[in-house]
Amino acid sequence: MAASRMGFVPLSAGTVPEALAVLREQQPVDLILLALRLPGGDGLKLLGEIKALYPHTGVVIMTAFATVPSAVEVMRAGADDYLTKPFGLEQLTTVLHQSSRRLHFDLQSRRLHERLRTERGMGNLIGTSPGMEKVYRLLSKVALSTHPVLILGESGTGKEVVAQAIHAYGPHASRPFVPVDCCALVPTLIESELFGHVKGAFTGANLAKQGLLAAAGGGTVFLDEIGELPLDLQAKLLRALQEKEVRPVGATHAVPISARVLAATNRDLNAMVAQGLFRKDLYYRLNVVNLEIPPLRDRREDIALLAEYFLERERRESGALHSFSEDALRLMMEYDWPGNVRELQHAIEHACAMSSGGGLHAADLPTQLHEFRTSYQEAAVSANQAGEGVPNAASNHCNGIVPISEIEKQAIIGTMRQLGGDKLMAARLLGIGKTTLYRKLKEYGLPLRT
Ligand SMILES: Nc1ncnc2c1ncn2[C@@H]1O[C@H](COP(=O)(O)OP(=O)(O)O)[C@@H](O)[C@H]1O
Ligand SMILES: [Mg+2]
Repeated sequence: MAASRMGFVPLSAGTVPEALAVLREQQPVDLILLALRLPGGDGLKLLGEIKALYPHTGVVIMTAFATVPSAVEVMRAGADDYLTKPFGLEQLTTVLHQSSRRLHFDLQSRRLHERLRTERGMGNLIGTSPGMEKVYRLLSKVALSTHPVLILGESGTGKEVVAQAIHAYGPHASRPFVPVDCCALVPTLIESELFGHVKGAFTGANLAKQGLLAAAGGGTVFLDEIGELPLDLQAKLLRALQEKEVRPVGATHAVPISARVLAATNRDLNAMVAQGLFRKDLYYRLNVVNLEIPPLRDRREDIALLAEYFLERERRESGALHSFSEDALRLMMEYDWPGNVRELQHAIEHACAMSSGGGLHAADLPTQLHEFRTSYQEAAVSANQAGEGVPNAASNHCNGIVPISEIEKQAIIGTMRQLGGDKLMAARLLGIGKTTLYRKLKEYGLPLRT
């Protein structure tokens, strides 16, 4: 009764086989109210079967809690919610209501996903690796709401493109998308950029200025490099997110805002919180949903797709007809891409400029790719001469005991590889002097020039 009043069309089954028959014949079933103790079978087992066969069907478990170890177990087994017996009409209605909202939301996000899905990615995003598939699934969900999202990933992984996609596929796509680079401006300027100021608020403030959070209307403000936001502005931003209003510099009254906030960083905010460099409360507020984009070296299957995509763009712009040679593709596949997709894009642009027409060869690609290959090969050779396995020499030592010198060598080679041979940066990150690094590289027989 309660269910049909809410728009559900109820079906019933008294035993496990009956339930399975109903599911088979009546697909799609949106929601199942499932008792754990059932004639002809075990409810928890049936739950597993339903979730495997019909992943989009919601299941609410009805149970007297003496009969199962815990609610946690039921949820872990895939239930979407549970009702403890005895329950009243009100509890049932609440659970049904929440379930129908969730079902509606899931359906919307699946539709969005299907609509934007292409053979080589989703929307403007290229990549079909499991890591990117996960990004697309999450993206289709978060785009529909207006909560803050924290986008994480190394520099060049595509954080800004993902932010633009969240905005573009969301309910307010026609409103502005406003990126703010927290690292590009001095703190006083970020404050007036974000929150606005009144006329005469500070020297040079000859006119009042509306802040971006207010100016974005119901659009999206993208706070890039949020980790660089000074602590006092973090407090102000938190207030803005909580109260949905901002106070322009020098103003006595607050101004309401309705913009969605997306934030991105390549820093470890959790560690920054531990060090007192980032406000915990703001971190929690922004991190309700986070979307982590994996580095390119962890999704190598996307390299060729992306390379092809950037090449196509070059073709369209310059009209030149190029295609990759085998050796160029191999070199790109081997490289570690510390600068991720951005570095790949630049490498293709570089290769197109260098190419003398016809194909794009390995020789047309930037030097860091070649150096990486050389140093990697030399490291492999020298490790082999020392009678060790490659590339993880440490695993060959007996009883897992590894000499410190070996660990040091691996750390140096690994860092140089990740940084594409940037010795100055490598020395800084390893905490050793540049001359020490040079000496060590020479010892290992690695190339010194960059
Ligand atoms: N998955 C992707 N598909 C297509 N282009 C991408 C993808 N990821 C990144 N890019 C491109 O790479 C460059 C860097 O992306 P960006 O979003 O600015 O990175 P980040 O903000 O993480 O440093 C941009 O030109 C962007 O268009
Ligand atoms: Mg960026």
